[in-house]
Amino acid sequence: MNYSELLKLYPAPHCECRLEGLYLDDAMEHPDSGDKPFVYTNFVSSLDGRIAVENPRLGRRSAPPAITNARDWRLFQELAARADAMIVSAAFLRGLAAGRTQEKLPLGSDPAFKDLHAWRRERGLPPQPAVVILSRSLDVPLAERCADLERPVYFAIGDGVAQDDSAAVEATGARILIAGAGQRVEGRPLIDALGQEGLQRVYSIAGPRVLHMLLKDAVLDRLYLTHFQRLLGGKHFDTLLEGETLDPPASFVPHALYYDPNTEGPAGQFFASYDIR
Ligand SMILES: NC(=O)c1ccc[n+]([C@@H]2O[C@H](COP(=O)([O-])OP(=O)(O)OC[C@H]3O[C@@H](n4cnc5c(N)ncnc54)[C@H](OP(=O)(O)O)[C@@H]3O)[C@@H](O)[C@H]2O)c1
Repeated sequence: MNYSELLKLYPAPHCECRLEGLYLDDAMEHPDSGDKPFVYTNFVSSLDGRIAVENPRLGRRSAPPAITNARDWRLFQELAARADAMIVSAAFLRGLAAGRTQEKLPLGSDPAFKDLHAWRRERGLPPQPAVVILSRSLDVPLAERCADLERPVYFAIGDGVAQDDSAAVEATGARILIAGAGQRVEGRPLIDALGQEGLQRVYSIAGPRVLHMLLKDAVLDRLYLTHFQRLLGGKHFDTLLEGETLDPPASFVPHALYYDPNTEGPAGQFFASYDIR
């Protein structure tokens, strides 16, 4: 097996395949109709379900360094290359040091991702997907920081959020989407509003509460989940999902499964994806 190769385990037939291009070529049609956005998300998790742990250097939780890796990062970037819009949490953007927002948001400027920029250009897509920031406040300093992201920026808020700062946020070039009743954004109005903006592929790179919002309103189509084969333990961590019990629970069927033995250490990883049913 070459370094860049993976073993496809599902669906049959099993075969070796390349890492590069794996998610660029993945089918992403909406099961119901052509004009509803296709909504997907992506996480990397340890076998004991940790997606974020305390990071003493940053003073907050972040994705565990013991499981994040360049090969998963490549697929994360490929999923961003497919997107018309990316959902991010205000908390995530606030946690980035000033001046590092552009660098941390895909598509990255690393020469390793040159082919992904070309992929978008060849398809007539804008250079970068739009950013949709979910927040419980209109955060003017954050909007100002996002003004140099060189991509459309939306602030999504619930209708109960104070809108005194609307003009200041819009003056940065950001658009405001009212998507939900009360303080919080809701999944269905958000995805409907993005569809009306002509954004057909929507990629959530946010965390467990945003995933809950998407599942609660049954607007998620696919979960890409990297299972990194390590157990981390620890007392303070985030898992995939945070929020009230889902009733009914969200049920998934496998879409694809790949085994990647080629990480830097002794542990491997599965690249799994699941469609919601
Ligand atoms: N391992 C992985 O693959 C992975 C993936 C994603 C995230 N993470 C990690 O998980 C942790 C949490 O990430 P996150 O902050 O993006 O998580 P999140 O729990 O999805 O989002 C939290 C923040 O987003 C805003 N928000 C969430 N739902 C909202 C709603 N319905 N309406 C309005 N605002 C809403 C809130 O911002 P306000 O503060 O404005 O209220 C809230 O503080 C971080 O450590 C991150 O690094 C790991």
